[in-house]
Amino acid sequence: MAKEMKGIILAGGMATRLFPSTIVVSKQLLPVYDRPMIFYPLNTLIKGGIRDILIIVSPEYSGLFVNLLGSIFENYGVKISFKVQRQPRGLPEAFILGESHIDHHNVALILGDNIFEDDFSEAIKNFESGGQVFAKKVPDPERFGVVKLGENNRAELIKEKPQEWISDYAVTGLYLYDQRVVEVAKSLKPSARGEWEIVDLHNFYLNQQELKVTVFDGAWLDAGTHDSLLEAGMIVKEKGISKNFHPIIEEATKEFCEIFKNSIKK
Ligand code: G1P
Repeated sequence: MAKEMKGIILAGGMATRLFPSTIVVSKQLLPVYDRPMIFYPLNTLIKGGIRDILIIVSPEYSGLFVNLLGSIFENYGVKISFKVQRQPRGLPEAFILGESHIDHHNVALILGDNIFEDDFSEAIKNFESGGQVFAKKVPDPERFGVVKLGENNRAELIKEKPQEWISDYAVTGLYLYDQRVVEVAKSLKPSARGEWEIVDLHNFYLNQQELKVTVFDGAWLDAGTHDSLLEAGMIVKEKGISKNFHPIIEEATKEFCEIFKNSIKK
């Protein structure tokens, strides 16, 4: 049996592209159809059997995250903790901020705005060691981390937002790594745009021939612009994605809403 895995949701940043909607509310708390966006990545982790989750948030909105998620899962065996990220310096920072949370375990990092139709529970539950990423064919690969695949979907090359076409497969925002990721993240140097790049972590595992790529076909939504946020809500509704939530989330949410309703009646 695979050993316990820790989870991290990266939900920092100010999402200036969504201003004015995100001036007082974090992007990851905006609604996507019938619930706040962050419930979708949370669902991916909880379905994957992860019960200890760190949410990385920006200082401007930290109180809102705590109000919503600080106690909701207390009776349901899911531990949620928070860490403030003062200034986003790239995705690998999640593993540095999360070092004591990871505590030498395997870890799944998911971006707080990534919504998947597919169920990756088995992949998460069966993960043993190395690195694993999830790739999908997209029409605009230059906007993402991109992986060139060889035989049996073996990764041959991974690049961040390549200007020259290498492949149509985007590397999406769910990453599984073993405990080595913390030390690798600490050893990274900032890229030309001044950020630590997640692609350098993938490349560490790729160079060791320990990077697995799972290709999937289902919907993958990020909600970085007003249009993609609206579209995400519509696709979630159409495909019934929010009907497939783990019972822990459904029950905890129901209980939380009841408690909240009763508290405002007084
Ligand atoms: C980040 C990663 C990129 C990945 C994308 C998925 O890009 O750097 O490799 O494909 O998330 O959402 P960003 O959205 O931060 O530009």
